[in-house]
Amino acid sequence: PPMQPLIVGNWKMNGLVAALGELWGMSQARPETEIWIAPPFTLIDRAVSLAAGRIAIGGQDCHHSTSGAHTGCISAAMLADSGAKFVITGHSERRTDNHETDAQVRAKTIAARAAGLTVIVCVGETEAQRDAGAHESTVTEQLDASLPDDLTDIIIAYEPVWAIGTGRTPTPEDVAAMHAHIRANLVARFGEAGQGARILYGGSVKPENAALLLGQPNVGGALVGGASLIATSLLAIAAAA
Ligand code: G3H
Repeated sequence: PPMQPLIVGNWKMNGLVAALGELWGMSQARPETEIWIAPPFTLIDRAVSLAAGRIAIGGQDCHHSTSGAHTGCISAAMLADSGAKFVITGHSERRTDNHETDAQVRAKTIAARAAGLTVIVCVGETEAQRDAGAHESTVTEQLDASLPDDLTDIIIAYEPVWAIGTGRTPTPEDVAAMHAHIRANLVARFGEAGQGARILYGGSVKPENAALLLGQPNVGGALVGGASLIATSLLAIAAAA
């Protein structure tokens, strides 16, 4: 049977203390669909207390080292120590803004898992890569170089870069095709574990399109940015999933 969907909210660089009211609203609604939230680092400690285990709280990135002279960085061990249960690695905004490579994403992913976190590893093509017909090969390269040697506690998120924050999404057929492509890659490399791995879709998921996008084969949930900032919209996505 298909797995229960998972809805992950990525707040990105949004959220002052007052935004925790939205998290409170999400946790009090006790939705049937599992919801995880990645607030900014500054809110993790308070978010963990507020969510009281009903919503898992995670980080949006981590450093690959456990500690050391890396001003401004946060380690996976620090996230785990703050009560975080998961971390996102390789988000396209990190790959672009911070020039993160697949090798760095892989190192962060391995470090995060060693710290006891579940890791959501993001992949996805740019618009130019899709226009050139290179979307599948791009994602293959990212998967091959970003993933560790086994899939324990690993979730994949497919986020076409051109769909993030734009209101544009791939067609359901394109989502299904890419998720099938990712599944085939995972099965070829990891066998049975690849068959069972969760693959999220991300990029302009809204209450209005959630049922269609999440209804596609091999889509095990969503990674939601903008719509995750408001409790009512994230809960509507969860309800549609
Ligand atoms: O991590 C979330 C994604 O980048 C999607 O963001 O829902 O605002 O398009 P968005």
